[in-house]
Amino acid sequence: MTTETTGAREEARARDEASPLGECRDRFLLPEGMVYLDGNSLGALPRGVPDRVSRAVTEEWGRRLIASWNDADWINLSRRVADKIGPLIGAKGADVHVGDSTSVTLFKTLAAACRLRPGRTAIVIEPSTFPTDGYVAAGVARLLGLELRWCDPEDPARAVDEDVAVVCLTHVDFRTGAMYDMGAVTRAAHDAGALMLWDLCHSAGAVPVELAEHEVDFAVGCTYKYLNGGPGSPAFVYVAPEHHGALDQPITGWMGHAHPFDMDRDYLPAPGVTRMASGTPPILALTALDAALDAFDGVDQADIRATSLSLTGYFIELVDARLDAALEVITPRGPALRGSQVSLRHDHAYGVVQALIDRGVVGDFRTPDVARFGFAPMYVRHVDVYDAVEQLVAVVKREEFASPSYDVRNAVT
Ligand SMILES: Cc1ncc(COP(=O)(O)O)c(C=O)c1O
Repeated sequence: MTTETTGAREEARARDEASPLGECRDRFLLPEGMVYLDGNSLGALPRGVPDRVSRAVTEEWGRRLIASWNDADWINLSRRVADKIGPLIGAKGADVHVGDSTSVTLFKTLAAACRLRPGRTAIVIEPSTFPTDGYVAAGVARLLGLELRWCDPEDPARAVDEDVAVVCLTHVDFRTGAMYDMGAVTRAAHDAGALMLWDLCHSAGAVPVELAEHEVDFAVGCTYKYLNGGPGSPAFVYVAPEHHGALDQPITGWMGHAHPFDMDRDYLPAPGVTRMASGTPPILALTALDAALDAFDGVDQADIRATSLSLTGYFIELVDARLDAALEVITPRGPALRGSQVSLRHDHAYGVVQALIDRGVVGDFRTPDVARFGFAPMYVRHVDVYDAVEQLVAVVKREEFASPSYDVRNAVT
């Protein structure tokens, strides 16, 4: 290392020392020597999770068996987790339900939302959304006999008129990291009499979300990215309180019944957001998520945002300064329009990502030409950003991305 690079790395360290989230990294178990920039795909393992899950398996399930529904309060676990997620998305826990996958949750929520606007004939969605959102919206449209209307992602409001029942958008784009102005778009939907549904998969835990303040009707989001709930951890749904009473979701299972253990023949929806439930909740996954969310104890959302912007801004600054436009920054540079990831375009993006992984820097590739880097503010440091760009410079200078072993045809994700 030259004196110059040592100095620059020290400067990165100084930024970490000044960071309000500096202590939070210790709440996670991260592999030594790895720079992990893929928390926008799978969040890191919070320190409290292994023991908590192990206890749930060996004691609650293994010894107490069925009694744990009461003794360990499994029956209310989903509610307790919802209460922890609420404050992270600007909502009351009582308006949040947790239990199914994001895709299933989106299906139930979108169908229920459309049913609240009878007579309206269209769902608006952006074509650049994560594929499952488009597929699910098409499925709901088919089921309910509605038009699926693809909007211009740059100006979704233009597609909204008095025929539109629901506008369904992803707050932070999975490919580019671009972020919508939640307040402005929600207002535009409401001005046309439509309901607003946000997908928060790339927002919750990384950027502040104010659902109640912006009068959002519905939101869904996964918990395995910036909320660190573990692979396949269950998704959440938010339903604004004014919609609880009339909510008619399509998978009316027994867990959404007002009195599941009465075993009635006829369905009577539970009061409040609990009617979004369908079947038996995934207790082990909820247990991991419950423990994972404790990592956010005492953490201020404003500090999360400030740290996220500092990390992404620093990454962009170093890429600009050191890579001479070899990769194009496709994430908006304006802080107000940027989530917590930075995406770079390169003809050999797959090779770039694979070569970086071999050098200990984990990001990911999205077809056809995007290298994504997620900056989970809770555990990524400025020094990681510095080290990642050092490795990226080496990969590009030595053209390691062109190695035949990094052929994109080998890509599995
Ligand atoms: C915006 C968005 N929605 C939905 C999903 C995934 O849905 P599921 O949790 O059902 O796999 C993802 C996954 O990355 C996503 O980025």
